[in-house]
Order: sequence, then C-alpha cells, then structure tokens
Amino acid sequence: MSQRPYHIDVMISAKAIAARIEELARLIRDEYKDTDKLVVVGLLRGSFVFIADLVRELEMNVEVDFLEASSYGNATESSREVKILKDLRGAIEGRDVLVVEDIVDTGHTLTAVLELLRSRHPRKLETIALLDKPARREVPLKATWTGFEIPDAFVVGYGIDFAQANRNLPYIGTVVFDDEGTAEASA
Ligand code: PRP
Ligand code: MN
Ligand code: MG
Repeated sequence: MSQRPYHIDVMISAKAIAARIEELARLIRDEYKDTDKLVVVGLLRGSFVFIADLVRELEMNVEVDFLEASSYGNATESSREVKILKDLRGAIEGRDVLVVEDIVDTGHTLTAVLELLRSRHPRKLETIALLDKPARREVPLKATWTGFEIPDAFVVGYGIDFAQANRNLPYIGTVVFDDEGTAEASA
C-alpha cells in the first residue's frame, strides 16, 4: 500500500499534556473525594496512554476497566452505528464511573458508550476527554472535563493513530501531507 508522504508537527508538547493532566487530576480528586473506589473506564484503543498517565496522577483508590467500541459508518446517514467489540469486565451498577476518551470528534462514539453504560445504572457517570474538536460535532455532547479544545486538524500521537501508526508519539501532533503546500503553490 503506497501512502502519501507526510510529516508531523508538534501541536501539544508532552510537557504541556503532563501539566494539564495534573490540573485535571486535581479537579477529579476533588469531585470524587467521597467516592470509595472510582471505576475509571478507558475506551480502547485511543485512550490507553491518557488513562495510564491520568490514573497515576489521581492518587486515589481506582479500579481500571476498558471497553472497545467501533463506529462503522454509512456515509449517507448522519447517525453512525457504534458496535461494542470488547465489553467491561466489571459491573458498574451503583458505582461512580469516569469514562476516559482521547478525543471527541463527531461525538458518536462517546454518546453511544454513555447510553450503554447509563442503562447499567451507575450511581454517577462522568467523562473526561483529553481533546475536543467542537467544529466536527454531529451530536450535541460535551465531556465533563476536557484537556484541550483544538481546531479541526488531523491529529495523532499520545494514543491517537493515523492508520494504526503514531499512537506511541509522546506528544499530540498534526499530520501535514508533504504534497499539500506544493499543490497549492502551483495552483
Ligand atoms: C477515535 C477516537 C475516539 C473516536 C472519536 O477512535 O479515539 O474514540 O474516534 O470520534 P467520534 O467522536 O467521531 O466518534 P477510533 O474509532 O479511531 O478507534 P481507536 O481508538 O481504536 O483508534
Ligand atoms: Mn477511540
Ligand atoms: Mg482510530
């Protein structure tokens, strides 16, 4: 498979992410100070880096669980179906649950996951997203806590992939296709 050559520009440095996560952890600790054991749910695969850094900043009693949802689209319909590929291991009824997402884009994934989890009657259900791209939203949704609001750019790194690559970059970067500037310049 040939691929258009591209490079990646840093959008949010590892240092800036770490500083923001410290702030977010403080807010979460405060919100759940009376919670016995918080269930932190990471949405696979994109959230695996964020959840790892976040729970280590929390310094509180947490249980970590994962859920994998895949949205598969019919481009002609605005509502996309979301399929559960891997369900939680634990029960969440009566529990305080925090869903961790790397990015909210159209909002379909998180909306569907929240609907599913709500049907299991947690005591409290909140969300945290490292990134929010409000310009792309198709369903109204706002995470309880957001790390950074970003413009409609093609982002990778810190868990986020481009064709299953670049998840292991320690920062958030933007994909820049090398032929884009050339095409515009010669137009
Ligand atoms: C990406 C991202 C979010 C979702 C956001 O996941 O990690 O989970 O899309 O998009 P939405 O708001 O438009 O639903 P993806 O489906 O690519 O799976 P991945 O996490 O395994 O990369
Ligand atoms: Mn994802
Ligand atoms: Mg992906």
